Amino acid sequence: MKESIAGILISEERIRDKVAEMAQTISRDFEGRDPLVVSVLKGSYMFMADLTRRITVPCTIDFMAVSSYGSGSKSSGEVKIIKDLDRKIEGRHLLIVEDILDSGLTLSYLMELLRARNPASISLCAFLNKPDRRKADVRPDYCGFDIPDAFVVGYGLDYDEHFRNLPYVGILAPEVYGGKE
Ligand code: IMP
Ligand code: MG
Repeated sequence: MKESIAGILISEERIRDKVAEMAQTISRDFEGRDPLVVSVLKGSYMFMADLTRRITVPCTIDFMAVSSYGSGSKSSGEVKIIKDLDRKIEGRHLLIVEDILDSGLTLSYLMELLRARNPASISLCAFLNKPDRRKADVRPDYCGFDIPDAFVVGYGLDYDEHFRNLPYVGILAPEVYGGKE
C-alpha cells in the first residue's frame, strides 16, 4: 500500500516534537482544573494516546464516537452519536481532542450538543487544521499543524478505514481516491 502515499507531509519526529509542545501548553493552562479529555473516535486515537501521556496535570479521559450523516467523506454537519460519554460532564472543564478540523461542521454540531450539558468550559484541541476549508465558525484553542487542502492519512486519519496505523502524516495519492474526496 506504500505506493498509495504520494509523500510524507509531517514526519514522526515533527509530530513527536509538536505533541510534546502542545501537552506542555495544555498542562500549564489546565493546572488545577482537572480537565476531562475527550477523544473523538476514531481518528484521534493515536494523537490522544501520545498527547495524554505527556499531560502532567491530573485529568480524566473519555471517548466519543460520532459519524456524519450523508454519503462519502464530505461532512453534512449532522452528527450521529455512536458512542456517548460514560459520565456526566456538568461543571467539568472539557478538552475535546480531534484529528482534523476540516469544514468544522462535525465539531460545531458536537460542541453545541456538549454545551447543552453545562460543562464549566469547552476547549478544542485539533492535531491538524485545514483553515481554507472552513464552513462553520470553529477555531481550535490548540492546534498542531495548519495544512493545505489535500487529503491526508496516517497518525489515526483514514481513507476508507485504511492507513490509520501509519506513524506519519502522508498525502494520499490522487489515484487512490480518483482525485475527489
Ligand atoms: P469536518 O466536519 O468537515 O470538519 O470533518 C472532520 C472529519 O472529516 C475529521 O474528523 C476526519 O474524520 C475527516 N477528514 C477531513 N479531512 C480529512 C483528511 O484529509 N484525511 C482524513 N480524514 C479527513
Ligand atoms: Mg474519518
